[in-house]
Amino acid sequence: MSLSTSNLPKHVKVVEVGPRDGLQNEKQPVPTDIKIALIDRLSAAGFANIEATSFVSPKWVPQMADGAEVMAGITRRPGTIYSVLTPNLRGFEGAVAAKADEVVIFGAASEAFSQRNINCSIVESIARFEPVARAAKDAGLRLRGSISCALGCPYQGEVSVASVVDVVQRLAALGCDEIDIADTIGVGTPSRTREVMEACAKVFPIERLSGHFHDTYGQATANVYAALLSGISIFHSSVAGLGGCPYAKGATGNVATEDVVYLLHGLGIETGIDLDAVVRTGDFISRAIDRPNASRVGRAMLAKLQDGAPTCV
Ligand code: HMG
Ligand code: MG
Repeated sequence: MSLSTSNLPKHVKVVEVGPRDGLQNEKQPVPTDIKIALIDRLSAAGFANIEATSFVSPKWVPQMADGAEVMAGITRRPGTIYSVLTPNLRGFEGAVAAKADEVVIFGAASEAFSQRNINCSIVESIARFEPVARAAKDAGLRLRGSISCALGCPYQGEVSVASVVDVVQRLAALGCDEIDIADTIGVGTPSRTREVMEACAKVFPIERLSGHFHDTYGQATANVYAALLSGISIFHSSVAGLGGCPYAKGATGNVATEDVVYLLHGLGIETGIDLDAVVRTGDFISRAIDRPNASRVGRAMLAKLQDGAPTCV
């Protein structure tokens, strides 16, 4: 008996966030040329959207202090959107100078996390984002909004669905082209994921909502599948499962890109991404920063490559 997947999207956009979300938490400085090589390999693997760096305070996130050099050094692949995080107008000016294609304003559904991550309340954060959003529209740049702690908070625990929906509405009012529902600490489960996604889809077009799942509790690929069933067709992931959040102690990386792409291709969903190339890129960055490769698919396919056997299914 074959299962029907007719309600799943035919195409999914995978946003590779490894160069930003993945690397921002590395304790040792990652050389700028390694960051550039990582982004160029990802572009060559076919990603339509890569989150490249942040224009934030280097006191808060020192690893992203070389954002301008990274953006200046990469080779732009036509058709790829290079996104950067911009918490305020100063960050936005950096993004414009760096010729970013998309700027990301990032808030939270939890008051406690908003204070720790960007040093202001949710309402204050929206007020700070207003001029950034206006400037992005005036400059013809894409604008994305990200909502941390949408499925739970490291400081306050439970986060209500209503508070996530409230922030979606506020970001929508600023003119966001896309809004990310982020499980910063990877506590979400499939049923909660569907509940939150479906509630958000009542106030914002579902084709412009994305799932950003960290994998701390091992639920992330299950949550991707759950969100697909709810109609979500944009997902964020990090090559080799790089990452963690500097303001969420114990949070591990994003769901590994290799695992997400394997899942999507296995479901017959197109991504435009060359999985073998992503696996090689995961190996490259894991070795370059001397970190274990956190992608199960990556490790399995690399083991096969070493044996000289064919890799993909
Ligand atoms: P603040 O201290 O309240 O603001 O920080 P401030 O205006 O007083 O600025 C403090 C210092 O930073 C000043 O320098 C500013 O000039 C400088 P000083 O005068 O002390 O020498 N500064 C900047 N420098 C460079 N670029 C800028 C910038 N802005 C100010 N844009 C602020 C407020 C928002 C700036 C700070 O809290 C910050 O930069 N936070 C960034 C936090 C961050 O990047 N977190 C990780 C990304 S979010 C994430 O990972 C979650 C996500 O993945 C989704 C999920 O999984 O949940 C997206
Ligand atoms: Mg994140």
